[in-house]
Amino acid sequence: MDKTRVLIWDLPTRVFHWLLAASFLGAFVTAESERLRDVHVMLGYTMLGLIGFRLLWGVIGTRYARFGSFAFGPRSVVRYLKSLFSRSPQHHLGHNPAGSWAIYALLATALVAGLSGYLTYSDIGGDWLAELHEGAANAMLAVVFVHIVGVVVSSFLHRENLAAAMVNGRKAGRPGEGICYRHRIVAALLVLATLGFWAGGADYLGPIPGNSPEAATARNHVAHRDRG
Ligand code: HEM
Repeated sequence: MDKTRVLIWDLPTRVFHWLLAASFLGAFVTAESERLRDVHVMLGYTMLGLIGFRLLWGVIGTRYARFGSFAFGPRSVVRYLKSLFSRSPQHHLGHNPAGSWAIYALLATALVAGLSGYLTYSDIGGDWLAELHEGAANAMLAVVFVHIVGVVVSSFLHRENLAAAMVNGRKAGRPGEGICYRHRIVAALLVLATLGFWAGGADYLGPIPGNSPEAATARNHVAHRDRG
């Protein structure tokens, strides 16, 4: 049967993706600034909220968004990577096996970065949590890099613009392989919740304990020790 353009990524998954990418980049570039500490913390909380949503959507979402559709073992990853060097690289409508591992790594590092950030700025835990926070954020940056390289390489090998598919939701497939619903209302609620949080965020957060003089001293202590 001929291939056509079918809907693969529902709207909530796409909205989640770009909000997570923007929040991570925003949190990363504001990480060192005392002045933008509130923005950094708010974007970190946004990431935690988004991950919470994605964990739920991975269970109740549409076919290709569900974790069950991209639960690949190490052998599948090796087979997939080998196939890339053959004449007929494996093609997956949803996430491919290698990409799925990068995605789980992104979700895990985002979760660890967000939780350790929350605990650090609530003055719970010590220097090790601040270090874990920084380590998780750097690890996430490295995985983002691998993720983007993977997207570009597989777009090239399959002659299909995967980044555009994360925007319009469509890939080449057979009729019947696509999903039926975009879930616009869920996506709209996700956008509204995020914008609402950003708009009133500073009020909900209250004084950030991590901005206390004690917390600032602890952070400076870690920074000086790392430099020294
Ligand atoms: C901070 C940057 C980024 C983060 C944290 C990130 C994170 C993620 C996550 C978590 C997923 C899984 C989506 C899901 O199933 O929920 C994903 C998939 C995807 N991302 Fe990103 N992403 C980032 C940047 C980008 C960029 C810049 C592009 C475009 C070049 C991109 C293209 C894609 C594509 C095409 C997929 C689907 C992969 C597939 O076809 O299997 N991402 N990304």
